[in-house]
Amino acid sequence: MSLILAIDTSCDDTSVAVLRDDCVLSSIVSSQMDIHKQWGGVVPNLARRAHEERIDYCIELALKRAGIKLEKIDAIAVTYGPGLAPALEVGVRKAKELALRHNKKLIAVNHMEGHLVSPFLKTRYGDYYGKNVTDPRFPLLSLCVSGGHTELVRVEWWGKYKIIGQTLDDAAGEAFDKVGRMLELGYPGGPVIEFLALKGDREKYPLPRPMEWSQDYNFSFSGLKTACLYSIQKIKQELEARFHEIIPDFCASFQEAVVDSLLIKLERAVNNLQPKMVLVSGGVSVNKRLRRKCQSRFRKLGVPLYFPHKKFCMDNAAMIGLAGYYKYQRGEFIQNVNTLDRRPSITIEYSSVE
Ligand code: KG4
Ligand code: ZN
Repeated sequence: MSLILAIDTSCDDTSVAVLRDDCVLSSIVSSQMDIHKQWGGVVPNLARRAHEERIDYCIELALKRAGIKLEKIDAIAVTYGPGLAPALEVGVRKAKELALRHNKKLIAVNHMEGHLVSPFLKTRYGDYYGKNVTDPRFPLLSLCVSGGHTELVRVEWWGKYKIIGQTLDDAAGEAFDKVGRMLELGYPGGPVIEFLALKGDREKYPLPRPMEWSQDYNFSFSGLKTACLYSIQKIKQELEARFHEIIPDFCASFQEAVVDSLLIKLERAVNNLQPKMVLVSGGVSVNKRLRRKCQSRFRKLGVPLYFPHKKFCMDNAAMIGLAGYYKYQRGEFIQNVNTLDRRPSITIEYSSVE
């Protein structure tokens, strides 16, 4: 049995969690949304300052809610990349400080590996959070869709990853955010667009499915973003006069284009590679239209498809704790705590390399 304290400060959420093996005992996420909202995106130095102000309290609260004393913790797992350098720095520094002062093992976790494993988080009673989730079977295929990444990853085993496709420009979440900004819907765009799309006509505005015909597994969203910009310019006057009538159709059409673009490549990869399971995770995976459309396709294909529980789609430290637990089992600890440094651009393929 292992008790892990996990920390994630990769972007704009200060997150701390406590896990007993793969079971979440507590998960604290202190969002900085209010700070960054007014700037229309995350401001790295403001994120750093907010992390610094909140990290100690989040750690204290996570331990308290878990009912665990720091002395009992076996290892500290911390996100060391990818992410914003000034933000990552706060978590890494704190984790090193705790490991040194309290003589704990230190585990460096790749943020994307956290998203990838998140469908397999369990409750404190040992049940998977997600409905009908079963134990992992390899090889599996993972689609990670977040604000910074869109990656298709073949997983041989935990820790053994191969990126088979990724975005050539913007990430899927970034496309939601940028189109949200064009429509003056505020930041982040994803949740608002999903809400407004609920009553919209998905076929009203013809938008491209970028890279639809390319035979690789890569994605591209900048062309879709430009197509949205032209469309918005064309309907500008209508939009001003009848915003509430038009916006649901536009949001639904855009959302459908993103969902289709993701699904086309995911399905192609599943058909070609025949994985035993498919995982879809990351901030965008909370999107219900994406979930429904994927579920109905994969039911037909007969491949198990799992998503994280909605509270673990966005950035959180519980997923870092789970990836940390898998590393704990493999004995992948940082040998010299002082040497750990943040790695803002590290890819998931190097997640087993110190
Ligand atoms: O994984 P995440 O919390 O942060 C990163 O690691 O990037 O993902 C944040 C992204 C944002 O771009 C946000 O717009 C998107 O997830 N997102 C959504 C929804 N909720 C959040 N995208 C589509 N539909 C949603 N409901
Ligand atoms: Zn993330």
